[in-house]
This record gives sequence, C-alpha cells and structure tokens, in this order.
Amino acid sequence: MIAIPETPERRAVLTREVTARTGLDAAAIESFLRAFYGAARQDPLLGPAFADIADWDRHIATLARFWGSVALMTGDYHGQPMQAHAHLALTPDHFARWLTLFEATARAHFTEQGAGHMLERARRIARSLEMGLIPLALPARGRQTAP
Ligand code: HEM
Repeated sequence: MIAIPETPERRAVLTREVTARTGLDAAAIESFLRAFYGAARQDPLLGPAFADIADWDRHIATLARFWGSVALMTGDYHGQPMQAHAHLALTPDHFARWLTLFEATARAHFTEQGAGHMLERARRIARSLEMGLIPLALPARGRQTAP
C-alpha cells in the first residue's frame, strides 16, 4: 500500500508535486469518476452490481476521497473497500471488465502521465481486492491436476 505522509504540510507538498508531474487534481479526478461510473452503470456485466446505490452523489464523493488519498496523497479517505465489496459476489470477469473500462476512461480524460499514475494504482488495488474477495480464483489458474 502507499504510505500516507504524516503531516498535512508534507502531504500538500506531495499533492502539488503529483499535480505538476501528471496534471491530476481533485477536479480532474471527480470529472473522470463521473464519466467512469456513468459508463460502469450502463455496462451489462458491471451495471447490476451498482443497482443498490441510491445516492450517486454520495458514492462519487466517497470515491473522490478514496482517489484523492490514493493518487494525490491527501489522506482523507478512511473507509474499508474490502468490506464494501464483500456482499457483491464479484468474479474475475468483473475485475477484468472494471479495469478495461477504467483504462479507456482514464486515457480519454487524463494526460499520459496522469492516466499512468491512476492505472498503476488501480491495477494494484484491483489485484489486492480480487485476491482478498475471491481467494481461490487466482491460485486455481496455476494449480496442477493430480497425476
Ligand atoms: C470489480 C468490479 C467492481 C464493482 C462491480 C464495484 C462495485 C462497488 C459498489 C456497488 C460499491 C458500493 C458498496 C456499498 O456501499 O454497499 C463499491 C464501493 C467502492 N468501490 Fe468498488 N467495485 C468494483 C471494483 C473496485 C475497484 C477495483 C476499486 C479500487 C481500485 C473499487 C473502489 C471502491 C471504493 C473505494 C468504494 C467505497 C468503499 C467505501 O464505502 O468506503 N471498486 N464498489
């Protein structure tokens, strides 16, 4: 995981450095999230998983805090993503589709550096969520059958 620096001053310096290098900031991330979740809700595979979200502004605000912490090092997300997905019965296909859509939307919204910064983190977190939520899925791919 990414270590969040301890002081607000140090975090602000790092946020400015990321913005200067990648063009990412809170407004660009929120606009990206609205486009990404707009598309995810319409997606035949992902859409049904989002059916129970009643307040989309609240959901986007939570995700904006999450991505602010992950990508801009703001440190203001304090939720538990693993628990939030536990009841959704997600499969490896959900994760593959989520990442494909995330990548296409990121490349359309951000600079090359910005998309790379977001994608590196999205892939790492998706892998860790997938391994936590679907414990047998990844080892099973490489498992040998008994002779
Ligand atoms: C694999 C496909 C995915 C689907 C269908 C999905 C769906 C959802 C849904 C329905 C919620 C709301 C849960 C609730 O409040 O009851 C949620 C929350 C969330 N998701 Fe996902 N998700 C997926 C993958 C991911 C990935 C890969 C990430 C991060 C890289 C992510 C980050 C989050 C975060 C941060 C929350 C908010 C957790 C909180 O309430 O603090 N999701 N997701």
